[in-house]
Amino acid sequence: MTTRVISNIGELTTNDPTLGEGAMGRLRDAAIVIDDDVVLWVGASAHAPAADESIDANGSAVIPGFVDSHTHLVFAGERSDEFEARMNGTAYDGGGIVRTVKATRAASSDELRRGTEKRLVELRAGGVTTVEIKSGYALDVDGEARLIDIATEYSDEVTFLGAHVVAPEYASDRGAYVDLVRGPMLDACSHRSKWADVFCDRGAFDVDEARAILSAAKAAGLGLRVHGNQLGETGGVALAVEMDAASVDHCTYLSDDDIERLAGSATVATLLPGADFSTRAGYSSARRLLDGGALVALATDCNPGTSYVTSMAFVLAIAVRDMRMDFDDALWSATRGGAIALRRDDVGHLAVGAKADVVILDAPRAVHLAYRPAASLVRQVLVTSGGALNGWFARGHGRVTDV
Ligand code: NIG
Ligand code: FE
Repeated sequence: MTTRVISNIGELTTNDPTLGEGAMGRLRDAAIVIDDDVVLWVGASAHAPAADESIDANGSAVIPGFVDSHTHLVFAGERSDEFEARMNGTAYDGGGIVRTVKATRAASSDELRRGTEKRLVELRAGGVTTVEIKSGYALDVDGEARLIDIATEYSDEVTFLGAHVVAPEYASDRGAYVDLVRGPMLDACSHRSKWADVFCDRGAFDVDEARAILSAAKAAGLGLRVHGNQLGETGGVALAVEMDAASVDHCTYLSDDDIERLAGSATVATLLPGADFSTRAGYSSARRLLDGGALVALATDCNPGTSYVTSMAFVLAIAVRDMRMDFDDALWSATRGGAIALRRDDVGHLAVGAKADVVILDAPRAVHLAYRPAASLVRQVLVTSGGALNGWFARGHGRVTDV
């Protein structure tokens, strides 16, 4: 076990109010000591204990690794033509999902791995240390199980999304598809998934269909997540709260009742600014959620249709500029908020005992992530040794050489 001290930190964000100033638990001229697994010590740089190795942060900012709690990383193909059409005024209606389903069904598992790995390398280069990955681009029993198996190679936060849209071959019998998802498909996927998700929205699944699928998933022991209120006030938020889902994601359209429901619940509102950006939707009302007392997370939603985004810094920049989140609220939502959306207490903060997922920036303050959009400001990412994602990186796959 190697211990490391990172000293001369200009601005350390711990997200633990007991360790430093304000809700972000901020310290200046700070140091942090970690081992291969956890944070051992946090305090003033001048008092830092010795360790096996030292890293001089040279006055830079240090933050907890980003927790990207919503991605669809396992897919084949791309849909840039839809992006161009949307920029010219075409609305997003979820119709393109079946194009990715066709490409994904046709792809070999190794092709799917290669694409997933490229996106993981991009996410990691931007400071993501925990990532959730959904299935949802196969929509048949064997195909969804294959996507879940691939996702499991890279993440401990794997989500079964057989209920992304109705599979094309079931277009004339939606009920049969709902039964397939809540029966044989769930059976084939539940043992390797932690979560189940349903796209409960216009053009996908209505509230009753979504409730039936989520109830079966809950009975199978899975935690619940919902894609809700992306395309309208379509009941996804209310359903997520009713079912005690860990998170309801998108929340682009919200009634005052939705905000009240969220505020009185353990369901996190996960906002996906990349999706609003890339679909030219209005932005989610982050301010109303925060002012109303709801818990907010921010995630990339990386997928080929609505948000081919792998930069959490970009997500933060939009959240601050266009959703009017204070930078600190946005940073908290992309770290601690993401962790809570995954019902995790060990990541998203840097208290003693938390996982040693630490990002050293090439900037004196974390706000530079939004202030200098599109610059690469992540200098170093230090991660705990455990877990599928870090295991994969540790096996030497941290660089992509065939681009
Ligand atoms: O989170 N909205 C539903 N699912 C994805 C988009 C999927 C796609 O268009 O391929 C999302 O935005
Ligand atoms: Fe999504």
